[in-house]
Amino acid sequence: MSHAADVPQPNNGFYVLVTGANSGLGLGIGTRLIDEFLTTRPQTEALVLIVTTRDQRKGDATIHHLEQHLRKVCQKHERTLPGIATLLQQRVHFRQERLDLLSLTSVQKLSKRLQDTTPKLDVVICNAGIGGWTGINWPVAIFSILTTWRRALTYPTFKLSGIGWTAKPQILTSEEASEPPLGEVFCANVFGHYLLGHNLAPLLARHTRSEDMRGRIIWVSSLEAYDFAFDLNDIQGLKSKVPYESSKRLTDIMAITSTLPSTADQVDQYLASSDQSEETMKPKIYVSHPGICGTSIIPLPLILEYLMLAAFYLARFLGSPWHSVTVEKGAVAMVWLALAKQSTLDAMEEKEGAGKWGSGTDFWGQERVERTEVAGWGWGGRMGEYKRKGRNPYAQDVTKESAEKFRKTGEKCWAEMERLRVEWEDRLQAAGVAFETD
Ligand SMILES: NC(=O)c1ccc[n+]([C@@H]2O[C@H](COP(=O)([O-])OP(=O)(O)OC[C@H]3O[C@@H](n4cnc5c(N)ncnc54)[C@H](OP(=O)(O)O)[C@@H]3O)[C@@H](O)[C@H]2O)c1
Repeated sequence: MSHAADVPQPNNGFYVLVTGANSGLGLGIGTRLIDEFLTTRPQTEALVLIVTTRDQRKGDATIHHLEQHLRKVCQKHERTLPGIATLLQQRVHFRQERLDLLSLTSVQKLSKRLQDTTPKLDVVICNAGIGGWTGINWPVAIFSILTTWRRALTYPTFKLSGIGWTAKPQILTSEEASEPPLGEVFCANVFGHYLLGHNLAPLLARHTRSEDMRGRIIWVSSLEAYDFAFDLNDIQGLKSKVPYESSKRLTDIMAITSTLPSTADQVDQYLASSDQSEETMKPKIYVSHPGICGTSIIPLPLILEYLMLAAFYLARFLGSPWHSVTVEKGAVAMVWLALAKQSTLDAMEEKEGAGKWGSGTDFWGQERVERTEVAGWGWGGRMGEYKRKGRNPYAQDVTKESAEKFRKTGEKCWAEMERLRVEWEDRLQAAGVAFETD
């Protein structure tokens, strides 16, 4: 069972959409979500896990993997509580959908389908992404790993990026020539998800004030979201030597500043939330990162993959809190953000300010959710914050000026992203290729 028409739509369903669910962190999010949902949520609730992949083969393989995982989890519980397996099995439903974030019409098509076939959405986890790297500068890699190994393995500076890469044209007509470029990494990592979040906002808003839950959009960022990587005049990173890092910095800025009064008009417009009622609540945007885990986001020959994993474990043993290494541990922050009570999240943000939620581990590999420092904003935009472990060696304490600059940058980013969204929606519409969404 996996397509919309076949999948039950339980009234007590908790609907989670995960993009790029077929590999790496996406799979880790899927399996961890099943584990935690079954053990923390009431027996009366069911999980509807909607996974997106770029083709049917990957979608089928993902559902197969998740079904196998669910069977194992149920068998484990059956050993301690005979008879429970059938009950647990019935509480999880899988569904697959197609999504190519580099095609804006694919984003619109999926949004339309979900609007037509899904009663609501509780959480959208924007996990899919690309690095846009062309290779590794081996001399720099070897030197930096040998001399500053922990920094080099946490904040690497030896990846080589494609510069000026653009997504394929969105409109395949004579208009094509006049179509402005869309940065490839920007589109896959930020803009495609940004459009998706806007289109799905009405489904995410379907929560009542009485529930301890608001629809959530969880963006997946990185420790590599460096301040220096981002240029407000090149928001798409088209001229950047580090477009991946630029896209992740933009993600941090957009998510954190989405909570500020100064961006409220843009965010309300984005979340189409002017028509609030007793039956709807404005969704919230959160930013997370998985620490560092071994996935194929940097394609490496097998032998180097093993060496990379060994180096990651070594980094953890020598004190790094960020080497989650496995994707299940890397998924702890996203899954926690997806399942936490709204009152818990609100209370934490009230106390510590809006911030970035990361996956970390201790020496023994016990995973935990860690607030993570963001350049210019600190852990929550507050002065005199308690300094936690795992800081970027170049990090500077947040100051009034840096926090103000961060806020102002956020306002400009929100204005520019909204401008781009509306411009692209109009362009697709005028070319007759748009899929109408509500
Ligand atoms: N691994 C880490 O240590 C690490 C650290 C920080 C942040 N992250 C973030 O974690 C997320 C997942 O990365 P990963 O490490 O799990 O990498 P991965 O194994 O390469 O997975 C990336 C996923 O994104 C999908 N994807 C790529 N381009 C897409 C597109 N145009 N449209 C739709 N889906 C697309 C891929 O699908 P295909 O299989 O079809 O390509 C795949 O499912 C990314 O946002 C990444 O930036 C990872």
